Amino acid sequence: MSIILALFNQSGGVGKSTLTMNLGHQFAQRKRRVLLVDMDPQASLTTFMGFDPDQEAATIYDALVDDEQTGLVADVPIREDCHGVDLCPANINLSAAELVLVTADMRDVRLKDALEPVRDRYDVILIDCPPSLGLLSYISLVAATHVLVPIQTQFKAFAGTNLLLNTLARVKRRANRKLGVAGFVPTLFDARRSQDDRTLRAIRERFMNVAPIYEPIPWSTGFADAAEARLPLALYDKRHKAIASIDAIVTQLDELL
Ligand SMILES: Nc1ncnc2c1ncn2[C@@H]1O[C@H](COP(=O)(O)OP(=O)(O)O)[C@@H](O)[C@H]1O
Ligand SMILES: [Mg+2]
Repeated sequence: MSIILALFNQSGGVGKSTLTMNLGHQFAQRKRRVLLVDMDPQASLTTFMGFDPDQEAATIYDALVDDEQTGLVADVPIREDCHGVDLCPANINLSAAELVLVTADMRDVRLKDALEPVRDRYDVILIDCPPSLGLLSYISLVAATHVLVPIQTQFKAFAGTNLLLNTLARVKRRANRKLGVAGFVPTLFDARRSQDDRTLRAIRERFMNVAPIYEPIPWSTGFADAAEARLPLALYDKRHKAIASIDAIVTQLDELL
């Protein structure tokens, strides 16, 4: 049975797209068949994976909205074997989906339905959510079997915490009763900053009874350098110490399979 994991946090810059790419790569290292789905109109994941979003002729948008002429929805477009994982790209067109889908029927399950035909081909599908609580995040959570929440170890991360938990509760109540919370991943953790340490402790206290809290992903320029080189960290610098943190998360997530 495959898992569909949505990486969700309505804040931007917390490391969602970076984590999506790197978790995907580590799963692939374990011979898991992996699909990454970019659900962010800003298309960071598509870019990190080495593509120019503006040049992508077909994106996840096409699989979400009806063709104006035919009324049909396209299959999910898949770029195969990008460093061992498949990718369904996005680009700025996706920003129109929120509006176009407002009046669409069955809109909540559009992504779920789009992924259904390819689900058998994968063990793990990772959905990189946009930094918002809007429709694109909502339909991602509806499509998911589990949600993973990257959370920055900075005090401001707490500002949106209640909103985030309320959103998860609403999705579970209304649209996806079986949605599991796979856990919280503290990100961009800088052990030299006392604020990060305090926030990490606060995160553990706050979420302890909600779901597992993983060991923090360290702040390291290696992640940004690897992204700039359009590579997962493990391919950019295979001895980088942060790879162990990613791998530890994959070890636990793999038990969901
Ligand atoms: N652990 C990390 N250490 C340092 N920089 C990071 C780390 N994770 C991500 N970054 C950088 O932070 C920025 C935001 O990361 P990104 O994954 O795009 O966040 P999000 O998807 O939540 O908006 C990017 O420039 C990325 O390279
Ligand atoms: Mg992102």
